[in-house]
Amino acid sequence: MKDIFDKCKFGEFNLNSRIIRTGAWERQTEDGGFLSEEVFDRYEKMAKSGVGLILSEMFAFDPKDRFYEYSTNINYRGFIKDYKQITDICHNHDVPILGQLAFFYFDDGDNQKAEPNDLTIEGIRKLQAEVIMVAKKFSFAGFDGIQINMGNNFYLSRFTNPYFNQREDKYGGNTLNRLRIVLEIIQLIKKSIGFHVSCRINIEDVRNGGLTQEESMKMAKLLAENGADSIQITGRTISMKYDAAEKHVFLDYANKLAEEIDIPVILAGNLRDMKTMNNILNSSNVEFMSLSKPFVAEADFLAEWKENGEGTSRCKGCNNCYSKKESRCFQYED
Ligand SMILES: Cc1cc2nc3c(=O)[nH]c(=O)nc-3n(C[C@H](O)[C@H](O)[C@H](O)COP(=O)(O)O)c2cc1C
Ligand code: SF4
Repeated sequence: MKDIFDKCKFGEFNLNSRIIRTGAWERQTEDGGFLSEEVFDRYEKMAKSGVGLILSEMFAFDPKDRFYEYSTNINYRGFIKDYKQITDICHNHDVPILGQLAFFYFDDGDNQKAEPNDLTIEGIRKLQAEVIMVAKKFSFAGFDGIQINMGNNFYLSRFTNPYFNQREDKYGGNTLNRLRIVLEIIQLIKKSIGFHVSCRINIEDVRNGGLTQEESMKMAKLLAENGADSIQITGRTISMKYDAAEKHVFLDYANKLAEEIDIPVILAGNLRDMKTMNNILNSSNVEFMSLSKPFVAEADFLAEWKENGEGTSRCKGCNNCYSKKESRCFQYED
């Protein structure tokens, strides 16, 4: 029988469990933009509680590329100092940590919001170079790898999506061409840093003419064949529809994908109790699961689950933390 607290391999990493804490805007900064003590405490609690792997909050490259007014970027003054401290906390508890990168818009030098169709080849090279710079900076700060967010509604999800990309060069048209921008990035990171590269992808795009599940599956296979080390599955929006569904909406897809590729596949979203998660582990090919809001509700809840052999997150799913873009629970004071 598999259990969420199994010690296991995840690519080159040895994990303390199958549970992954997935990105959450930390936001709390003080003293000229440095992270507050609260964030370090949260990492200490998470890392100590039995989590297997941590994915950082999302970093942009360009300070102007803002998802929200307080979204962070890799070039803020305290980045190396703050994140060296955070990666040290994780490593002291044998927990690997990947830094997440996302472009919301992309500034190609001429246009601060260059659409996928408008990007010149020089613009594509600029974007790819920025990813490498981010990966290097992650590496200086002690991260064990990078996660490229090419899911949700971020720039690379739009670039790879036929709804947005009608380019007529080798970066548009068929699946391989639309994915080429990312495949080249993966190769560059592998050559220059040898980092773990994780990709966060959408299962589908619900717009007419957008990415279908069939094509998303094809893309995931191409990513795996071309050097990606793990794949996390998400949706275009973090929708209430997903929260309300009875069966996990990404499960069938994750099950099929995990059977077809030999890199770790991470099932994400709306996982709240240990029994359900162990049932998923023992009735599908899924081996890794990520959670976000449960860690916002209580950073060290896993310690109690582990001790009791059961548990349910106290997250009520009100979504206030998500709406307000804060890693703070609005239901509980502590
Ligand atoms: C406060 C908060 C911050 C988030 N920040 C990020 C982020 O930086 N990057 C990201 O990819 N997803 C982010 N998400 C989305 C989560 O990673 C996750 O996909 C989503 O919340 C669904 O998982 P859950 O049901 O376990 O919370 C955030 C979600 C919340 C609630
Ligand atoms: S604010 Fe709401 S959704 Fe966020 S962690 Fe707290 S209870 Fe869960």
